[in-house]
Amino acid sequence: MTSFEFPGEYYEIMRRDFRNLAAETEFLASCAPPGSRVLDLGSGTGTNLRRLGELGYSCVGVDQSASFVEYARRAGGEGVEYVHGRAEDFATDRRFDLVYSLFMTLNHLPHDKLRTVLETTRCHLAPEGRLVLEFGHLLNFVESYQQHTVAHHRGDDILITRLARQSVNPHAATWRNEETLLVRDADGQVSLYDNFFDQSVLTGPEVRGLLAEAGFTVTAEYGGFRKEPAPGHGRGPLVIIAAPTPKEAI
Ligand SMILES: C[S@@+](CC[C@H](N)C(=O)[O-])C[C@H]1O[C@@H](n2cnc3c(N)ncnc32)[C@H](O)[C@@H]1O
Repeated sequence: MTSFEFPGEYYEIMRRDFRNLAAETEFLASCAPPGSRVLDLGSGTGTNLRRLGELGYSCVGVDQSASFVEYARRAGGEGVEYVHGRAEDFATDRRFDLVYSLFMTLNHLPHDKLRTVLETTRCHLAPEGRLVLEFGHLLNFVESYQQHTVAHHRGDDILITRLARQSVNPHAATWRNEETLLVRDADGQVSLYDNFFDQSVLTGPEVRGLLAEAGFTVTAEYGGFRKEPAPGHGRGPLVIIAAPTPKEAI
């Protein structure tokens, strides 16, 4: 269950409070030179692709949110194209030099389709291409768990108050987030949006196993987009770079 159907400009404001876009851009650019073909699975409002487009990459983004894709298209960007649809249904004859999925999008994909998505992604990659996955792992969820949260996010003349309720389904190993966004705009008008999503609780070993089954070899792991060492005790983000395993080595 996933929505993310609210105006993209509000997502952009909230995203800035969670993410370091400069670090993400530098990281992605270090995985493939400018001019390369890039695919973003779960491209949201196109935040990362717009930056890569400015740097000369040829970009495609796929996202299931009609509102976010509409925002991304409106925001434009040189050499950037968006497909409205689910990552697990995305099909193309094109080959990409870099495919990535950031900010826990992997956790949003249907758990039972992850292996197929990775297998398809392998087909979408050029032989020397790279896959970058940043996902939420078990400890991220455990440590950030609060049944109810209230958070404020500020843009120019806009205040977004996010009221969130989280619940865990231990049988399915899923995490449900139900939130209401109260947005007060520059004119003092208040609007309300519901946003909800389920995320699978993934672990590092599970994702490494799925990658191996889908024909990938992990080439590097980091604890963040500044290429911090992957922490041995498992806290913090986990960013994995993988390359297609040559057919003869499978
Ligand atoms: C936390 S947002 C991250 C968006 C973007 N990667 C970013 O870094 O801002 C998660 C995104 O996953 C998208 N999403 C969830 N399930 C999806 C699916 N099955 N296929 C494609 N996109 C999906 C949502 O619409 C949302 O834009």
